[in-house]
Amino acid sequence: MIKLPGLIDPHVHVREPGQTHKEDWDTATQSALAGGVTMILAMPNTKPPIFDAATLDLALTAAKQNARCDYAQFIGAGPDNSEAAASLTDKSAGLKMYLDSTFGELRLDDMTLWMPHFVNFPKDMPIVLHSESRTMAAGILFAAIYDRPVHIAHISLKEEVLLIKAAKERGIKVTCEVCPHHLFLSKDDIPAISYGHPGRGEVRPRLATKEDVEALWQNMDVIDCFATDHAPHTLEEKDSENPPPGFPGLETLLPLLLTAVSDSRLTIPNIIQKSAINPRKIFHLPEQPETWVEVDENASYEIHASDLHSRCGWSPFEGWKVKGRVTRVVLRGREAFKDGKFLVQPGYGQNVRA
Ligand code: DOR
Ligand code: ZN
Repeated sequence: MIKLPGLIDPHVHVREPGQTHKEDWDTATQSALAGGVTMILAMPNTKPPIFDAATLDLALTAAKQNARCDYAQFIGAGPDNSEAAASLTDKSAGLKMYLDSTFGELRLDDMTLWMPHFVNFPKDMPIVLHSESRTMAAGILFAAIYDRPVHIAHISLKEEVLLIKAAKERGIKVTCEVCPHHLFLSKDDIPAISYGHPGRGEVRPRLATKEDVEALWQNMDVIDCFATDHAPHTLEEKDSENPPPGFPGLETLLPLLLTAVSDSRLTIPNIIQKSAINPRKIFHLPEQPETWVEVDENASYEIHASDLHSRCGWSPFEGWKVKGRVTRVVLRGREAFKDGKFLVQPGYGQNVRA
């Protein structure tokens, strides 16, 4: 048995309010606990998007009733909410800016719309950027010009990890996260994931080349956090004419990482650093006392969506053989998950910014 701290996932799409046929605070946090994740930071591209006090209240009310693990909720950067967003800093996980196209309506195209957020959002908190390739370079330039921290979500490309490395060496305040799907899958895997439905391979950022994947592994020391970008959509939606991008990932993150440890590609201290210590430091998250995860590092099994707890009902890792199973999760002194059963009720989860 290996004992780990409760993992923190700084990038989760919970889908409540508004799209609870995909996921809600209960099913998302069940997936979290079953995956050894005891704290999630929820993204704001819900329906409606979370961008002011009233919409933040909507999300936090649902979370308070339904979450089984601890959480905080991001505010989305809109074209004219920089003051409102800054005034909600203490109540939120932070500010999320969508600078490239993805699921939802929060994209900010024009750089003049980025400026007030870089000016107004408190400088001791990072702004999280969905920014790919050259947009990411623009985001890092903004961090340098405004002398403030940014956190780059889900990096996937060789050019991205190399530019972040160079920016860090120059003292620019940039941190980054990588998702399991960008570490364990490349675009060559799309046919195998798709089962004849190409929409299943859609995710933003897209799956990259093997060379990109290799560059992420080679530059593991540049990567601050593991984050799932858990983005559940139903199979019906993924297999439709207009498939939304996104993969579920909360429950498969730790088994995949433990398998990489078993293959000597990663170490347990790497996991603790990137899934607990660094996210806590970057986002100023509190300690969770008497909280830990027990894993059976020798348990070998196959991933099957039918065993997972997300409402979306599928996984890009279907059929993968992994080594390492979460057997028990203790959250703030209470057994929350044991041998496949949830032992805390919806509502046990706490808002870490309350
Ligand atoms: O693939 C993605 N899906 N990337 C994102 O940035 C958003 C997410 C979603 O909300 O579905
Ligand atoms: Zn996301």
